[in-house]
Amino acid sequence: MPRRNKITIVGAGNVGATAAHWAVQKDLGDVVLVDIKPGLPQGKSLDLAESGPVMGFDANLVGANDYDATAGSDVVVITAGVPRTKDPVTGQFTSRDDLVEINRKIVGSVTKEVASRSPNATLICVSNPLDAMCHVMLAESGFPRERVLGMAGVLDTARYKTFIAMELGVSVEDVHGMVLGGHGDTMVPLPSHTSIGGIPLRELMAEDKIQAIIERTRKGGGEIVGLLGYSGYYAPSASVIAMVEAIVRDKKRVLPTACLCKGEYGYDNLFIGVPAVIGAGGAEKIIEMKLGDKEKEMLEISANAVRDVVKLLPY
Ligand code: APR
Repeated sequence: MPRRNKITIVGAGNVGATAAHWAVQKDLGDVVLVDIKPGLPQGKSLDLAESGPVMGFDANLVGANDYDATAGSDVVVITAGVPRTKDPVTGQFTSRDDLVEINRKIVGSVTKEVASRSPNATLICVSNPLDAMCHVMLAESGFPRERVLGMAGVLDTARYKTFIAMELGVSVEDVHGMVLGGHGDTMVPLPSHTSIGGIPLRELMAEDKIQAIIERTRKGGGEIVGLLGYSGYYAPSASVIAMVEAIVRDKKRVLPTACLCKGEYGYDNLFIGVPAVIGAGGAEKIIEMKLGDKEKEMLEISANAVRDVVKLLPY
């Protein structure tokens, strides 16, 4: 008998709960929402389940504070973590090193819990600092690299495409392009590989406008924090669900994904955003596209930024 897909989302905060929302609306499968806070995953999943009769979906939604209900998941999305916060006394933000240490422990323990119960799942990390947390997931799960992925490129690319469509006054559906590299200020949008309905971007937009959009994309996360006072979650959750959909429907989508490179693009044992074919097997293939010298240089800067964080890890 065919079974339903099972999707576990760890962290029932803004990104996790909204990801559950997109997943059931898209009929991707049953969803288990896990969080450390008592009542939060149960309340969010019950509230969402109660929208089913209205919205017309019949996914089973379960909320839990432990991992038993996650057993046998096809995909596990990890959004658990803490954001950088301001110390009310000193006014100082959590240092990056402290954040790495805190989230490394959270992502590490969550990974062990889910990996032991769902040995065939594909894991997708959303927690920051993204590329470093992918290394944690890989080490703690012992899974093959194909099934340990990070979501950043889909979000960064979505922001890039949104800004281009807004500037040109065209549908986002017809904007094609890709952002590679690590998740952060050094990410690498690729204007020479961007087109609008097949027309190269540079035929339609002046270089200064393109550069301004690249800059805005790089700071896209911060722009939302500046407006809301906390991180965005509609676009991040939609982006991770695009990856979940590609896996559970075996779509073979070509998506910029944080993958462990083993020689690809000249990187060894480093997670970085590269184009990959995403299907039932996870990142089934990394596509090595031709990059210009400037783009390679930018990717190297981005890789160095990732290495700087990864070296804080004990692996
Ligand atoms: N196990 C399970 N859940 C946990 C754990 C843990 N050990 N530690 C924290 N959490 C939960 C929190 O209780 C919270 O509900 O993770 C959730 C995180 O949600 P939010 O604080 O709302 O953060 P969100 O905006 O969803 O971002 C999640 O995505 O973009 C990244 O940097 C961001 O790492 C952050 C993650």
